[in-house]
Amino acid sequence: MPDKTILKALAGETQETPPIWMMRQAGRYLPEYRATRAQAGDFLSLCYNPELAAEVTLQPIRRYGFDAAILFADILLIGQALGSKLWFAQGEGPRMSTVTDAAGVAGLRPASEVHETLSPIYETLRILSRELPRQTTLIGFAGAPWTVATYMIGGKGKDEQAAAHAFKAADRAAFSLLLDRIAEATVEYLSAQIDAGAEVVKIFDSWAGSLKGQDFADFCEAPIARIIQDLKARHPATPIIAFPREAGDRYIGFHKRTGADCVAVDDSVTPEWIAKNVQPDGCVQGNLKSSHMVTGDQALVDETRHIVETLKGGPHIFNLGHGITPDADPDNVQLMIDTIRGA
Ligand code: CP3
Repeated sequence: MPDKTILKALAGETQETPPIWMMRQAGRYLPEYRATRAQAGDFLSLCYNPELAAEVTLQPIRRYGFDAAILFADILLIGQALGSKLWFAQGEGPRMSTVTDAAGVAGLRPASEVHETLSPIYETLRILSRELPRQTTLIGFAGAPWTVATYMIGGKGKDEQAAAHAFKAADRAAFSLLLDRIAEATVEYLSAQIDAGAEVVKIFDSWAGSLKGQDFADFCEAPIARIIQDLKARHPATPIIAFPREAGDRYIGFHKRTGADCVAVDDSVTPEWIAKNVQPDGCVQGNLKSSHMVTGDQALVDETRHIVETLKGGPHIFNLGHGITPDADPDNVQLMIDTIRGA
């Protein structure tokens, strides 16, 4: 058995106290993050500056002693590495140039060429594997092909998956080629992250919930299963977490259908439901509502305890149901951790 708490959970061990980390744990709710980001200039310059990206990755570890550090980067960098333009409009989130037809897909770079753009990310991981405390697990990540494609097709995020659904309806073959290209690039990217020191990798499918029926099997599960199969062939000992956000009933059996070692679950399902329907298949991660990090108080304590108690019968990694938001109070994060660790 491994000796780090996160690796124990991922190996299927049930623990007295679940290991903890938080999606977006390095982020704008932390004053030290805002200071480093100001020093870097814009968000992408921060992602591609290995010293500063490592620094912001370490900030929440120093402040809170989380059990895992997640690489500071973004899921959209892979689209940029494939040739799409990427920029962050102030206060509006990500923007990308759009791939809308077969010619656009054909014009993307080959998967084998993504390392040219992404090599600073590997350097960030090398720095982190030297500097992290020995008990802290280093997590690398990438977006799932469907979620990355929604940005590459629509040019932006929220409410804009419509463009990706339209492409899929207009030319399913070209759309499938786009997802294949992203999947191939993702195997290259995650494999290089593991070579550079990532001990676990996580695949974020943030818009999985908008895929219905057969589309969920074809464009959420199949690409994730393929990535996992190819990664396991190269790195059999590296555990993989998959996050098909808002998958609802489709969380059931997701471990088995994709080969994921752990399924991360959002907060639209209850811990009781997770314990009954998902945890019997393996490790689960989640699922405190991130709004508790804004509101705090007894409700945060009660809900945190409830999740820990309900999921203590099997392997569990404590996390939020989605990323922590910029308006969160850093003291509430400490309150959550103290509640879990019984301080
Ligand atoms: O979790 C972590 O702390 C690691 C780093 C990380 C970021 N983004 C940093 C980031 C990770 C794992 C991501 C994943 C990501 N990025 C996802 C999947 C997870 C999810 O939240 O659903 C998605 C969809 C993106 C794309 C993206 N990047 C969006 C939609 C935004 C804008 C939203 C926002 O909060 O402003 C980003 C920007 C972004 N990525 C920030 C951070 C810390 C904020 C940028 C800033 O400092 O201004």
